[in-house]
Amino acid sequence: MLTIALSKGRILDDTLPLLAAAGIVPTENPDKSRKLIIPTTQDDVRLLIVRATDVPTYVEHGAADLGVAGKDVLMEYGGQGLYEPLDLQIAQCKLMTAGAVGAVEPKGRLRVATKFVNVAKRYYAEQGRQVDIIKLYGSMELAPLVNLADKIIDVVDTGNTLRANGLEPQELIAHISSRLVVNKASMKMQHGRIQALIDTLRAAVESRHRG
Ligand code: ATP
Ligand code: PRP
Repeated sequence: MLTIALSKGRILDDTLPLLAAAGIVPTENPDKSRKLIIPTTQDDVRLLIVRATDVPTYVEHGAADLGVAGKDVLMEYGGQGLYEPLDLQIAQCKLMTAGAVGAVEPKGRLRVATKFVNVAKRYYAEQGRQVDIIKLYGSMELAPLVNLADKIIDVVDTGNTLRANGLEPQELIAHISSRLVVNKASMKMQHGRIQALIDTLRAAVESRHRG
């Protein structure tokens, strides 16, 4: 059995056409189903529906052989526990700092609100900047508006969410897209099968970008 961990929403929506190119189609609509294990048209391939931030955990521990996760999530998860053989070029956005339009930076320690605590620590350590990191789980854009923080670190695509809240993008931390991740033991034990799937997915990504 080959088990693939995916999160509902944009990653699932953008990954299903790529999996279809490899002949893997869920036998029921994961968006409608309450099931968390979804069989596919291939008897020996199944999908696990997990939170986006949990994908690396399932794959590193071998509960799933493969998964699809945003580079932001992988940067935050850290470690060398996973192979990351393919950029699927889906769910593209940027990881950025942002703050209130026209706000002046405080002289003392900067307060930064984010769900990407490890990324934030690394980013400001590299700059030699003293910061207080405030961990949030969502609605980061609110933090500067109510003086919980001076800045946020979040993903930005169109910039509409920032604009709607009187914030502006500032420094670029990383360009983000979603990656195929593979459990290290699975890669050894089922090498031929997983490599064939990677090759098919790579061809599907390339043809999507050509066409
Ligand atoms: P969780 O459900 O665990 O809180 P999430 O809400 O961040 O996770 P999604 O919104 O489905 O999950 O995002 C999945 C991935 O898509 C993110 O990790 C990021 O790489 C990318 N992403 C997030 N927001 C956008 C966006 N507005 N445009 C393009 N890609 C995005
Ligand atoms: C994501 C992210 C930002 C927004 C950025 O939220 O958390 O708030 O997209 O995109 P934009 O620059 O195009 O506005 P999403 O829409 O996925 O909702 P979520 O908070 O439920 O993840």
